[in-house]
Amino acid sequence: MTLYSNIVILTGAGISAESGLDTFRDKGGIWDKYDLMELATPEAFARNPDLVHEFYNLRRAGVQKANPNAAHYALARLEEKHPGNITLVTQNVDPLHERAGSRNLLHMHGELNKTRCLLCGAVSEWSDDLFTDTRCPSCGQAGYLRPHIVWFGEIPFYIEEINIRLSKCDLFISIGTSGSVYPAAGFIQVAQNYGAETVELNLEPTDGKNLFSVSHYGRATEIVPEYVAELIRQD
Ligand code: OAD
Repeated sequence: MTLYSNIVILTGAGISAESGLDTFRDKGGIWDKYDLMELATPEAFARNPDLVHEFYNLRRAGVQKANPNAAHYALARLEEKHPGNITLVTQNVDPLHERAGSRNLLHMHGELNKTRCLLCGAVSEWSDDLFTDTRCPSCGQAGYLRPHIVWFGEIPFYIEEINIRLSKCDLFISIGTSGSVYPAAGFIQVAQNYGAETVELNLEPTDGKNLFSVSHYGRATEIVPEYVAELIRQD
């Protein structure tokens, strides 16, 4: 008999750090180098779409070269081995979870490798650079494509579905996220209110550390495989 029937895992930039992708709020992180108000809001895109495309083109090019690390692979292995349900919710826009083999995955902040047409609404796979005059692969019109990324002030994807999964989960695991951005930062409380055990796996204690019933601190490539091995052993 497995201990946990429904596990929800929330990941953030820290899980991809050892794959060479920058986090946001650590020293030298993305929001240290760039002004988020100039790049990651709908207003910024309306004001200066070329600049916003340039920023996401750089990041898109970066993820094409990145490989999943031991932490991504451990979560894919958990999904494969665990007899209960695993829902992986990621705030990350990189494709490393799916490259590692995770399937039951919700990209709540969107995906770098997708574009969305503001005219026809089509979401298309996109791994190249994107420009203001790029044609939509679906409707063929130029000038309407935007990165399929949730910007500040926009509503994350899959929120209803995530809340349903949280209301049913008996284990909630938060990995490599500072817990600074809502609604993701509030998932711990939702899970806790429904009686789930709550675990934080992070490089260092976060501001919300006291909310978690269990915590392990260290590099994701070490602590995530260790924790997953223990879960699988208990199954
Ligand atoms: P942050 O940069 O806010 O937090 C990253 C967390 O990962 C920090 O708590 C670090 O201590 C931890 N960390 C760093 N290296 C690690 C390692 N090797 N192993 C384990 N943990 C490590 O990133 P997020 O919490 O993901 O949103 O940020 C949330 C959202 O803010 C992002 O999705 C993005 C950003 O603005 C959008 O772009 C919409």
